[in-house]
This record gives sequence, C-alpha cells and structure tokens, in this order.
Amino acid sequence: MNSFSLLSQPRVLFGRGEADILPSLIRQFGNTVLLVTGDGTLHRSGRLVSLVDAMRAEKLLCYHYTVEGEPSPEHVDRSVEQYGSAGINVVVAIGGGSALDAGKAISAMLLKNEPVERFIEGQPGYREHDGAKMPFIAVPTTSGTGTEATNNAVISHVGKNGYKRSLRHPAFIPEFALIDPELMLSLPRSLTAASGMDALTQLLESLVSPYGSPYTDAVALSGIEHFSRSFMRACENGDKDIEARGGMAYAAFMSGIALANAGLGIVHGFASSIGGYVDIPHGTLCASLLFSATRENITRLFEKGEDAAYFLAKYAKAGRLLNADSSLNTDEACHALLEKLESLQDALTFPRLGAYGIGEKDLELLVSGTRSKSNPVELSRESMRKILEERL
Ligand SMILES: [Fe+2]
Repeated sequence: MNSFSLLSQPRVLFGRGEADILPSLIRQFGNTVLLVTGDGTLHRSGRLVSLVDAMRAEKLLCYHYTVEGEPSPEHVDRSVEQYGSAGINVVVAIGGGSALDAGKAISAMLLKNEPVERFIEGQPGYREHDGAKMPFIAVPTTSGTGTEATNNAVISHVGKNGYKRSLRHPAFIPEFALIDPELMLSLPRSLTAASGMDALTQLLESLVSPYGSPYTDAVALSGIEHFSRSFMRACENGDKDIEARGGMAYAAFMSGIALANAGLGIVHGFASSIGGYVDIPHGTLCASLLFSATRENITRLFEKGEDAAYFLAKYAKAGRLLNADSSLNTDEACHALLEKLESLQDALTFPRLGAYGIGEKDLELLVSGTRSKSNPVELSRESMRKILEERL
C-alpha cells in the first residue's frame, strides 16, 4: 500500500429537516452572521426564506451577500471590504458550489487586509495562506461540487488571460456541513443533472487517481453506489423523491471527501482551463466531457496492458456499480461503464462546448493550458484535443 495522508472532515449533520438547527449552530460562534447565497437560491425555495426568517427571529444579526455566478476575486474582495469591520462571528453559505466557494473564500479572507489573488494557487506573487479565518458553515442546496467537504475554494477570473484556480488550506474545511435533502427538492432538472454529473466525475476521477488510498476508494465507491440508485430518480421526480435527493446529497458529499484526499483527473484539468476561458457552468462542462474523457483514458490504459490493470480494475468496479451487475469481468465492466456514461449524456442532452462559443480555433490554446492533474494515464496533446473535438 502506498503512503497517504488524510485531511480532517467538517462536523456533518445530514438528514431531512436538519437545516432547522442552523440558528443554534450559528449561536455557537456568536450573534452576527454573514449569509452568502447565489442570486437564485433564496427565491427558488420558500424553505430557505423561512430559514432566514428563523435566524432573524432568534435575534441574530444577519448580513446578506449575494454572489452572481461563480465567485471572482472581485466578489471576494468586495465582500471583505463591505463586511470586514461589521463584527462578523461566522460565515454561512447556503446554495450551490459557487455560493459555497464564495462563502469559504470570504471566511478565509475576512481577517486579512489583502487582495485574495495573492493567495490563489498559481497566481504571480502567490503566498501561502496561514489558515487564520472566520468559522464557516456550509449548507448545500445542490448535489455536485462537494465543496462542503473540501479544503479549497475555486475562484474564477473569466477571459482571454483568465483562470479558475483554488484558494486552499486544511483550515478551510468548513466547521459544519449541514446537509438537508429537503433544501434540494426545488432544484430544477437541468441543475440537478449538471451538478449530479459533476459529483459523478469527481467520484470517478478520485477513484482512479494515482494518489488515492483504500480509504478514498471506499468513499468514492460508496458515492458511486448511491449515485447509481438516485441520479435518474432525482432528475425525473426531484421535487417529490426525498430519498433520491438524499442519495445524491450523500454521493456529492462523498465526492468532496474523495477529491480532497485523492485529487482529480483530466475533466477537472479542462474545467480549470476552459472554465477560466469562457463562462460555462462547472457541472455542465463536466457533464459534457465525462464520457469522451473516460473513453480516452480507458483506451489508453488498455494499450498499456498489464501496467494499467490496477486502474482498469477500478473503472470496472465503477462499471459494475453503475450497471448494478456484479457478474461482469473487467473488459465487460469497462465497456458497460462507457455505455452508461454515453447513455446519460444522450438522455440528458448536455450542451456542447460550441454552445459557449468554443471552436476549432480555441483548441490549441486550451490544450496547451490543460494539465492532466491526477489522471490515471498521462494524456498526449492529441488525446486531449480529441476529447474536446468530439464535444464541439
Ligand atoms: Fe467538479
């Protein structure tokens, strides 16, 4: 067994109705809370409005910051400027991955008097953050990024010289992850599908990462099992099927633990390069590329023969779980995995990259800016180009 290290986890409260205890969780840290949400989150669900009312009824002083789209350095800096001297005791983010990443980044920067860009990995003049931050409570309302479990916040600066990179420190793992499937009932089908495919991508990529461990394998496989049972039900009957919403919330949380401890592969490599280049929702990008990228990985691994048996056996485990068929041998299970991913892509009609303005002319630049990350096989530029060309 290879050496490995594990990050800590947030204290987790999981289950229907658990969100009701949010005011008492906040009280553990003080009376003044900065609530961070996405622009659509509170309007979408009466349940969330009542949650905010409950916080106010408890005489908590509640400031509210809304993030439109994925968090940028300007969002984070602006909120810190606005609330840095407001006596905030705790940051609570309620929403999808963008709101949670924004809340995590704001909690990390409230005690600093510097622009967040200085602490973003890979930026010129990068300095390591010392981990001093405000307490942070993550309340996900989608089932995708798993950021309620992770030690990083993804910050995007979209454009020609754009980037999508992380602010990271072990201390950034939320103090609490409050995961209530009831908050997910109002999530529209398209967001359920895209965020769910992000979770599946993270589960698969961390499962086949060279930096995984028996622990992350178990976590990822447990997540894939629940995804398999719940995903289509959550897409088709998501406003009523609380069991399916719970299964997806669990799968997404497992994906967060797995990725934080094992790393991610080529799809998330593209998520960094393409996500910094055009404004494309992260889940949509993962959903669009997962089948083509996994097929390229599996094809290259089969070419390597015996050396790659370890990774193919892992893909096969995922194939058996996603097809609920434990009788398949490795070859059959890898093919069944690809068939399943292709059928999800077809059934849910994920947009192509062309819909976001990406064409042949952009491929060279995008491929040269993409790293394989913790992919099970090093992909050539031709392989990466092929994955993108198929999805233009
Ligand atoms: Fe992701």
